[in-house]
Amino acid sequence: MNDLFLRTCRGETVERSPVWMMRQAGRYLPEYLKVREKVDFLTLCRTPELVAEVTLQPVDLVGVDAAIVFADILLPLEAMGAELKFVKGDGPCFPQPVRRAEDITRLIVPDVDETLGYVFDALRLVRRELNGRVPLIGFGGTPWTLAAYLVEGGKSKSFAHLLGWSYRDPKGLRQLLDKIADVSITYLQRQIAAGAQAIQVFDTWAGLLDRQRFREVALPSLRRILDSLQNTVPLIYYANGGGHLLAELKELPVNVLSVDWRLPLDEVRQLVGNRLTLQGNLDPTALLSTPADIRQRVARLIEQGRGGGHIINLGHGILPMTPVDNARAFIDAAQELSVTNS
Ligand code: CP3
Repeated sequence: MNDLFLRTCRGETVERSPVWMMRQAGRYLPEYLKVREKVDFLTLCRTPELVAEVTLQPVDLVGVDAAIVFADILLPLEAMGAELKFVKGDGPCFPQPVRRAEDITRLIVPDVDETLGYVFDALRLVRRELNGRVPLIGFGGTPWTLAAYLVEGGKSKSFAHLLGWSYRDPKGLRQLLDKIADVSITYLQRQIAAGAQAIQVFDTWAGLLDRQRFREVALPSLRRILDSLQNTVPLIYYANGGGHLLAELKELPVNVLSVDWRLPLDEVRQLVGNRLTLQGNLDPTALLSTPADIRQRVARLIEQGRGGGHIINLGHGILPMTPVDNARAFIDAAQELSVTNS
């Protein structure tokens, strides 16, 4: 049984650093595209047998040290009654965005077992099929990042609706974040009950906020979620564009802080201290280079990560255009070059 990932989360001394990739089950794998020819994205998410199949693909084909259940951070919003569509080439779309305090009443706090039971079924099935080969990660989005999609109605360049609301009526927006947090707490607790051995919380849009507004607007609902999961499984918080927030983030009640590529890991380590394991942070576009170049960059990343617990990963999700051989070169280099002699 390979439990390197869990031991590294807990801050134990390990024989080498574990490695996995955000978005590792996805479109860079021809075997994933084959499944997607048959079903659309949301149907895939709702079919536990297919979820198990694509979740295991990167374990079998690329050799990662952890599996992450195939799902999406936006699924709980759909369960709350927000219609969700995935438009090919355009990403997620909420046709009826939530933009004012009055709109919040349209959202329900659903029975999570009834509306999201397919995720828990998938987790149980994946645990069975993994049979201890590698640990299984469950996940969700932070209320702030989920609200970013729900308020904008999809992807956005300026996030004017979300940020406008946050200045005009911060109390109202915080009500929305609190309602999302209520559902997220049950959702993540049920994932653990169904077999998730670690939980990663994705904050893709943390970087939109300055430090003070991050503290005032985004942090309270996030903290409530993290507090509710204390003494369960290892917790990982991922921030994109959060270099300016590290003084806040180092205080979060998590085991692992996952960072993007914008600051080298040794500088991140200096800023956050030694309590946390760090996860990251190769630029995903570096995987568009050559296997030899990737190997050198991984060697440098491992050097920068010495002096504390390190889970080798990308700084954001792997890109669909990544050659599978380059993904393999990343995983192989991480597993070979991070071996310690102690
Ligand atoms: O392998 C894994 O990491 C597990 C599965 C996973 C998906 N989404 C599957 C997916 C995970 C962990 C996510 C998280 C997620 N979803 C995030 C946070 C991480 C990040 O990338 O910042 C966000 C912001 C979303 C929302 C989302 N889902 C967007 C913006 C999109 C469209 C853009 C894109 O990458 O295509 C999705 C769709 C999505 N989620 C796909 C996959 C594999 C592509 C859908 C397809 O197969 O057509």
